[in-house]
Amino acid sequence: MKKIALVTGSTGGIGTAISSKFVSDNYRVIATYSSTEYYKDSIKWFNQQNFSEEHVRLFRLDVANTTECLERLTSLLKEEGCIDIIVNNAGITRDSVFKKMSAKSWYEVIETNLNSLFNVIQPLFGSMCDKGMGRIINVSSVNALKGQFGQANYCAAKAGMIGFSKALAEEGAKFGVTVNVVAPGYTSTPMIKKIKSEILESIKYKIPMKRFANPEEIANTVSFLASESAAYITGATLSVNGGLYMQ
Ligand code: CAA
Repeated sequence: MKKIALVTGSTGGIGTAISSKFVSDNYRVIATYSSTEYYKDSIKWFNQQNFSEEHVRLFRLDVANTTECLERLTSLLKEEGCIDIIVNNAGITRDSVFKKMSAKSWYEVIETNLNSLFNVIQPLFGSMCDKGMGRIINVSSVNALKGQFGQANYCAAKAGMIGFSKALAEEGAKFGVTVNVVAPGYTSTPMIKKIKSEILESIKYKIPMKRFANPEEIANTVSFLASESAAYITGATLSVNGGLYMQ
């Protein structure tokens, strides 16, 4: 039986790399997209990646919606039998200097990047504990660790992920459920294309490796944490940031 991995935000830059890596690791992937509005795009994505329905199931899930997550993930669990691996990868930015930050920008980021952990994990965690095996991997950010001008909302949410993961790691440990964080640095995805080119260049200049990460480099770390080789790692935060921030 293939292990089943739920990957949120699977159609984005890092999400695509994680989904592809998991397919090559021989997992069945439940690839989420956020709303019916993106259904056609997600089908296009599925076809572009040459995925088959045996390996990848597209699944609508608004990770910011508590009621929807409870209902849809409870059904999913019944249909699939179990979920072995959860990767909370869905994330958004609403960058702005704090003086100008709207409440909407604050709450959207907290809901999608942090409240989503409750929404997605809570309906599935009990079954992982009952099975005596599970892997939860939360995708945070270098900016959770170092802070970033213009990202008070994002840094708050992504740092919240780390505290949450340590607490849940304690609860999951005796059941064989590990909970870890991957903290990517600036990665070549559509997300960083929103940053003005001169600001992006100044960020690249500060990275000791003088380049952004490839999404595959983040996916490889997620894959490792999902594997049997990482069975004794829990509550950890693995940085993949080219040296931009060293703990
Ligand atoms: N430190 C101190 N001061 C800074 C600064 C910094 N890092 N960056 C800008 N400033 C100053 C500017 O010099 C400017 O000062 P003056 O008013 O005296 O001229 C002032 O702050 C305003 O700066 P901006 O012109 O940049 O303001 P803006 O409103 O046009 O833009 C911003 C604000 C959108 C936040 C922009 O600064 C920005 O895009 N910053 C980068 C944010 C960033 O790194 N986001 C990461 C997105 S990718 C991601 O999140 C993935 C991941 O996990 C890594």
